Amino acid sequence: MCKKHILLCVFIAICVGKGVGQMATYDVKLANLLLMQRGLGWPHQLNVVVGHEALLKLQLDDNLVNQRSCVLTTPTGLTFNILQPPNNRYESWSDGCGVRVKNVQKTDEGRWRLTATKGNDTITGWSEVHVQAGVPEYTGSPISIRDGESHTQVELTSLNNSYCLVSQPFSESSLVPGHCSVTLDRATRAIQGNWNVLLGIPGQVSELHVERRITVEAERLNTGYIHDTETNKVHLYCNILHTKKNITFCRFQKTSDTIGYNIVDGLGDGVHSYYGDGFLKRHCGMTIETPTEHVFGTWRCTVGVQEWVGTQIRQSTPFQALIKVLRFNLNRKIRRDFKAEETKTSTVFVQRDTSFTVMCRADISLTYCWFKHPNGSQYTPMPHVDGQEQAFWYSGESLQTGDCGITFYKASNDDDGVWTCHMGPRDQLGLEVTDLVNVRVTGPLAANTKEVNATIGANTTLYCHSSNGNRPLDYCRFLTPKFVGISLDSTVTKENAILSRFYFTPGRDLDYGECSLTIDPVMPDDVGEWTCAALLHDETLESRDTIILSIRHDYSATFRADIFGMAGGAVVLGFVLAGIAWHNRDKIRRRLASRSVRSDAMSLDEFGCESTTSRISSSSITSGSSSGSSSVNGRA
Ligand SMILES: *[C@@H]1O[C@H](CO)[C@@H](O)[C@H](O)[C@H]1NC(C)=O
Ligand SMILES: *[C@@H]1O[C@H](CO)[C@@H](O)[C@H](O)[C@H]1NC(C)=O
Ligand SMILES: *[C@@H]1O[C@H](CO)[C@@H](O)[C@H](O)[C@H]1NC(C)=O
Ligand SMILES: *[C@@H]1O[C@H](CO)[C@@H](O)[C@H](O)[C@H]1NC(C)=O
Ligand SMILES: *[C@@H]1O[C@H](CO)[C@@H](O)[C@H](O)[C@H]1NC(C)=O
Ligand SMILES: *[C@@H]1O[C@H](CO)[C@@H](O)[C@H](O)[C@H]1NC(C)=O
Repeated sequence: MCKKHILLCVFIAICVGKGVGQMATYDVKLANLLLMQRGLGWPHQLNVVVGHEALLKLQLDDNLVNQRSCVLTTPTGLTFNILQPPNNRYESWSDGCGVRVKNVQKTDEGRWRLTATKGNDTITGWSEVHVQAGVPEYTGSPISIRDGESHTQVELTSLNNSYCLVSQPFSESSLVPGHCSVTLDRATRAIQGNWNVLLGIPGQVSELHVERRITVEAERLNTGYIHDTETNKVHLYCNILHTKKNITFCRFQKTSDTIGYNIVDGLGDGVHSYYGDGFLKRHCGMTIETPTEHVFGTWRCTVGVQEWVGTQIRQSTPFQALIKVLRFNLNRKIRRDFKAEETKTSTVFVQRDTSFTVMCRADISLTYCWFKHPNGSQYTPMPHVDGQEQAFWYSGESLQTGDCGITFYKASNDDDGVWTCHMGPRDQLGLEVTDLVNVRVTGPLAANTKEVNATIGANTTLYCHSSNGNRPLDYCRFLTPKFVGISLDSTVTKENAILSRFYFTPGRDLDYGECSLTIDPVMPDDVGEWTCAALLHDETLESRDTIILSIRHDYSATFRADIFGMAGGAVVLGFVLAGIAWHNRDKIRRRLASRSVRSDAMSLDEFGCESTTSRISSSSITSGSSSGSSSVNGRA
């Protein structure tokens, strides 16, 4: 009896884990004996993968081990002395009473009993063996993680592993006890790639190697259009990928139009209808049935979204993008030959020491944009941060909508000159798209052109206007080279002209910051330096600028007359060439013949034509036909 007690006490210490003090007073009752004996088999529970070995034994007091006999009963009821096994699958194992079962099969599942006997003492114990199929391999689909998301839990397997060793690309491997999942502080694209995972699987000695592909996807728009020739429909789409945000509205607008279309999941008006798999799938699209000419050009899509912030649903900044629909049966690629369509370089008039904006607009979505200063310095604008002092920052709606703008805190005379916008298109690599903006740093009132070439007997215009946008003028006056002062406003017309030939240029207005004099006709006395002066409504000092009026060379006049007054033939060509030669004389930048002709055509109505392009405005909209245009934007 005494030995039995010792054995039981050993068992309690090992398996139940009771404190030693408690164990000393534990009173073993006969009823507990069987229960206790169960625990004598070791291990109590064993998971074995088919083909592996099971190692089972009785937990005995070491001193008594050798003098005992050992009998095994298998789950199928086979009983034999371990020293005389019926076949070589069984083998005595360990110093005491134990068995090694080789090549475990499903039929080996169940309770294995071991009985050790010495004289009248019999100790019995059993182990429960669970046989499971092996896990030869594990494959999982790629795991997609949202870029920038924090505290992301990545579940690497769904197996019941006991530990795993995870190695991410370019970093040390880390051991994860228990279920194999990793929490990322912040997801970035640097963790993309194949992750190698080694798993410890119960019942299996060799570790399981698992490779999981991790992709990090940024929330973004997938945009484009489909021309369905069969049904004669055009589908425009702006679907949001990799997001948890829900769509609240979906809008399309042709950039050259002033109104758009409110596209609702499941709604149509006969011509325009919803396209996509539903707002729930974050699809925003519009079908245009039997498209007309109108469909060609640039469309802007705007997708409203909301998201959970804590326990509240919040509206977040809508997504926007541009979709360029090209004429069918033409190459679908976005044309980059910007300069071939030569748009007139816009001019922005900026008052010294005030903030100014250089703005270009592409009709394609951009990834980035930067600017070249007239002196060659490069500027890449960053978002404006409130309350932080920045010399310059990004302005415009978004790169997605093709806006490429930079605002400088303060203009200095150095900033005067031609700036270049460099724009990186979103959907293609290669050459950047560029555009030019002419920045004129002036006083509050600036001459639109510092030098005016006029023809004796014809009319000409001297045009001054407020810088930094349209600011009302209190009065407007001019001083002739012969020091005759002229004060005028829009009530002075051709009919009641001052000295019968000076009047305020029709269509212009003091209220819009314009001080403009038409001289009709120009006389030899008008040659020389003119002064325009005005009082800006919000200033206390009068502002002024000067304009040099000179007489256009006769060749040029002849050239104009010939281009527009005569028809065809070698004579015209001869004069065209002469005219071009004249214009090229000291104008290096004029390279295209067509442009030379056009610039002359423009001078026909002098600055009436020019005023439309140089007016400082922020509402200039990119035209659908050209692949880009720019506008100027002054800040008051
Ligand atoms: C075993 O038990 C029998 C009778 O129950 C007894 O006669 C014998 O002495 C015992 N042997 C030992 C070694 O205790
Ligand atoms: C993992 O273990 C749990 C309980 O232990 C079980 O319900 C589940 O089926 C197991 N899963 C696998 C894949 O073995
Ligand atoms: C988005 O829609 C799903 C399904 O209707 C909803 O469970 C979820 O809460 C919504 N989330 C937001 C931010 O509205
Ligand atoms: C160009 O002008 C800017 C602004 O005046 C100045 O900060 C910059 O240093 C100049 N760069 C060069 C190369 O002169
Ligand atoms: C006027 O003509 C001169 C040379 O004759 C030329 O340099 C200048 O650019 C011309 N100005 C305009 C506004 O055409
Ligand atoms: C100025 O002259 C051009 C032709 O030389 C003419 O078309 C235009 O109407 C004239 N402008 C005014 C205001 O008379």
